[in-house]
Amino acid sequence: MAIEQPATRPANPRFSSGPCAKPPTFDLSKLAGAPLGRSHRAAVGKEKLLSAIEGTREILGIPAEYKIGIVPASDTGAVEMALWNLLGERKVEMIAWESFGAGWVTDVVKQLKIDAEVKTADYGEIVDLSTVNPAHDVVFTWNGTTSGVKVPNGDWIADDRDGLTICDATSAAFAQDLPWQKLDVTTFSWQKVLGGEAAHGMIVLSPRAVERLESYTPAWPLPKIFRLTKGGKLIDGVFRGETINTPSMLAVEDYLFALDWARSVGGLQGLIGRANANAEAIHAFTYANDWIENLAADPATRSNTSVCLKFTDKRIADGASFAKAVAKRLEAEGIALDIGAYRDAPAGLRIWCGGTVETSDIEAMLPWLAWAFEAEIAAQR
Ligand SMILES: Cc1ncc(COP(=O)(O)O)c(C=O)c1O
Repeated sequence: MAIEQPATRPANPRFSSGPCAKPPTFDLSKLAGAPLGRSHRAAVGKEKLLSAIEGTREILGIPAEYKIGIVPASDTGAVEMALWNLLGERKVEMIAWESFGAGWVTDVVKQLKIDAEVKTADYGEIVDLSTVNPAHDVVFTWNGTTSGVKVPNGDWIADDRDGLTICDATSAAFAQDLPWQKLDVTTFSWQKVLGGEAAHGMIVLSPRAVERLESYTPAWPLPKIFRLTKGGKLIDGVFRGETINTPSMLAVEDYLFALDWARSVGGLQGLIGRANANAEAIHAFTYANDWIENLAADPATRSNTSVCLKFTDKRIADGASFAKAVAKRLEAEGIALDIGAYRDAPAGLRIWCGGTVETSDIEAMLPWLAWAFEAEIAAQR
């Protein structure tokens, strides 16, 4: 028996967790003001880069005394810059509960060869954050994109800590409240929550992180692309838009457009509200259907951006191929693109819910997910 297809389709089937959907009002003509073919060090270029920095500060509510820089190599570049510049001064705790956090553990333990205290949890779970020692530096991911598990809040970070907190917030910034007073280094990329272009990262430094940079020199060499100090002083220009190397002015224009769009939906609170509404629509769907569950065990840790789901129906013979087949069926119908779980994550789906996704598209997609599930169960017989 053919299973009937739902009547309504999402207007936009893009639910990828990165690069993420562009803002709904985007089209290429919005980038016509990009100073293409001009130097990024000319006044026009510098002005655009500075306004990307200050627009970020305004929307994310970053304190005036924090430094914000645009750096190469996207979020990865920003995180590695932090690890290579700052670590080694004191004991380090690495906490990880999914693939990207695990990647930072590898960097610190295997590449930098730091004798770090490593704390991990399985996909769907989170490390006991209360065990973090405020005398240590700690490296963690605010929102684990590949497991859909986020830290619930920053209450576990001591205000009077001696160590630095280094936070990969790439799938949290612009979707979740980040307590800046608790974060010494925060990184994210343009390609995530605001649907910007890839390859550009941002690094946000607290005064304590700057103090460490100016007072500590790591034992290892630093390539030019990572260097944030010269002669023991912060290279201040980087934090005014004088980038270390050449940025794409088209990507800068695109980010400025995304910031404008963010303002138009009510800034940070508007963006958080949009992501929450998207994630809530999926949560309601999982509560209503006993064959699918959120991968994040504790509701307080459930992401509102990278929502990860697992199939729990006993009739499923091979979980990995079932999940892939569901994702493929939805892609083939033009209903949902790129929603298979991350390659290192447990079998399932990952549906991006950041603010650039319209709730009406999530709501139109979900009945199709039920349709694809039933069709695959039938195909197994
Ligand atoms: C938590 C996390 N960290 C790092 C990255 C790497 O980001 P990029 O490819 O922008 O460097 C991603 C990308 O999905 C991520 O989700």
